[in-house]
Amino acid sequence: MITKKQTQVLDFIKTYMAKHSYAPSLEEIKQKFKLASVSTSHYYISKLQDAGFLNKEHNQPRAVSAVGAKQMIEVPILGAIAAGQPIEAIEISNETITIAKDEIGKQGKHYTLRVQGSSMIDEGIFDGDIVVIRKQDVAENGQTVVAVIDDNQATLKKLYRESGRFRLQPANPTLFPIYRDEVEVRGVVVKIVRNLESQLDQGQSRDEKYIRKIDYSWDYRGEKTKSHTHGIHTYPAMFIPQVARRLLETYSKEGDIICDIFCGSGSALVESRLIGRNAYGIDLNPLAIFLAKAKTTPINPQKLMNEYTALLDRVEKIKDNKIQIPDFKNIDFWFKEKIIIKLAKLKKAIREIENEAIQNFLMVAFSETVRYSSNTKTGEFKLVRVKGDKLEKHDPDVMGIFRKNTEKNITGMTDFHKDARKDSWTKIIFGDSSKDNGIKANSIDCIITSPPYGDSRTTVAYGQFSRLSAQWIDMFENPNDASGVDNELLGGRATKHLIHTLSSDYLKESLGKIAKQDEARAKDVLSFNIGLNECLKQAHRILKPKKYFCLVIGNRLVKQVRIPTDFIIAELAEKIGFTCEDIIVRNIPGKRMPIKNSPTNIVGALEETMNKESIVVLRKN
Ligand SMILES: C[S@@+](CC[C@H](N)C(=O)[O-])C[C@H]1O[C@@H](n2cnc3c(N)ncnc32)[C@H](O)[C@@H]1O
Repeated sequence: MITKKQTQVLDFIKTYMAKHSYAPSLEEIKQKFKLASVSTSHYYISKLQDAGFLNKEHNQPRAVSAVGAKQMIEVPILGAIAAGQPIEAIEISNETITIAKDEIGKQGKHYTLRVQGSSMIDEGIFDGDIVVIRKQDVAENGQTVVAVIDDNQATLKKLYRESGRFRLQPANPTLFPIYRDEVEVRGVVVKIVRNLESQLDQGQSRDEKYIRKIDYSWDYRGEKTKSHTHGIHTYPAMFIPQVARRLLETYSKEGDIICDIFCGSGSALVESRLIGRNAYGIDLNPLAIFLAKAKTTPINPQKLMNEYTALLDRVEKIKDNKIQIPDFKNIDFWFKEKIIIKLAKLKKAIREIENEAIQNFLMVAFSETVRYSSNTKTGEFKLVRVKGDKLEKHDPDVMGIFRKNTEKNITGMTDFHKDARKDSWTKIIFGDSSKDNGIKANSIDCIITSPPYGDSRTTVAYGQFSRLSAQWIDMFENPNDASGVDNELLGGRATKHLIHTLSSDYLKESLGKIAKQDEARAKDVLSFNIGLNECLKQAHRILKPKKYFCLVIGNRLVKQVRIPTDFIIAELAEKIGFTCEDIIVRNIPGKRMPIKNSPTNIVGALEETMNKESIVVLRKN
């Protein structure tokens, strides 16, 4: 005997299965019957199973199918498959699952995989489900396949052939497709066995302390990001100006004092200046400070143009014996001899400019020229030297690069000079945001920032990116000190052990999982979070009560463990005296960040970083 409500649930499951060939999710049952939680859906399923109306599938106590399908076969579970970023292809396990034969067709050999991740949710494939795969090495356009790419990385995606390449399309609008010239197909999905146990976990995790809201309106896909002085120099993981501006407009008002505690090249400071906010910027990388100052100092474009034209004349006349070559290690490894001479002449000519702001502004274009005329791969954040033939042929046109950059920069400055608010100020501090940098307690109206998303060594090496420029433009008394910057940044020095007092359960869980695989990496992560916690405390000190602190942060993957840095920040901040009001998730269409990097520096040892980030909105209590 089952109740009327249980009968309705059973009917719903049967109808759903007839249509989809797999069971509805607990969430779908919850929504259909307006139940209080997924646990209530689970209760109905258990009752129907106990009463014999739903099967308990072999090895999968809560995987359901309606009673009635008869001829059963055992199919091996070969391991896990990523419905997300690809993972090491298919490991062997000895488990099997029993499935009704007529549900998977009589033809072909089959195997099953447990799904990890959420990239196929719009196809009804959830984290923890088991997918039954028919072995085959070809697939039709649009079929959901097990695809192996980059030697041995497996992923579950919809496959499309497009002019000369393959597109592996996630069924989740928040994720990007993967494009490859070659894809190995290892089978197509023929059935999904819903694992209600894991959905119950997911259901519980939906009741987590914090909720992420996906909001596409924050993506700003395809929009211009280099207006005004934003485009005068590259810098890793720069703010999209639109994001900085929207946060400023939402959480502050004209005349307010803003602070960006990890200001980098100063994007939020430029935006503050354009919309009438006063702003402090703090950073521990000297090149960032230099760029931020140049980007936020309005200069009369006519004066700039005059100095620039005079400089072009002067540089031609500088004799080889009048130049000074910077004295840093490996300069001839990173630059060809004739390039060093050209750069040294250009630098001398810039240094002769008396007006400091103009000299610095032209030095920014010089810094870009250093990067582009060095022997490094300019598409990388880390210093990687080009090799072989490419290096031999490498013959950059130093003055050409400088002219192109300067002329583009002058256009940007012309707009900034016109639009920057004359009644606002910007102050830039070289300092460590985990310490007191002299900003008064309770004096800031709003903090808008984008912290690094991990230690510099294994994520974005800000110091390494900046090194050659910093050495050329005399940022350090001893230019060889430029190689020490990354050690000073957040997480720059791993902790000695894994004992800590940070009160974040999310952090503890991530550290536990990472430490099981690699203790050294767990110590890097811990060190970063200890530093970040100190920065949160300083932010709390300088912010006025009831005011907002917005952090744009990515949840990085370490050893295949996704670290929920947004939740960790929320937990740590709430202990310090903030309330987490919102966590908004945005796609990163244009931010200059590596989608993959190699933390181990082993060729081919790629680790996915991220293509989404969270905006954590905190409010001081
Ligand atoms: C994501 S970047 C900021 C980019 C910036 N929003 C922009 O648009 O250019 C993070 C910055 O944090 C800085 N940083 C890392 N550790 C720091 C610390 N302890 N104190 C201050 N700045 C730090 C890095 O040097 C880097 O410039």
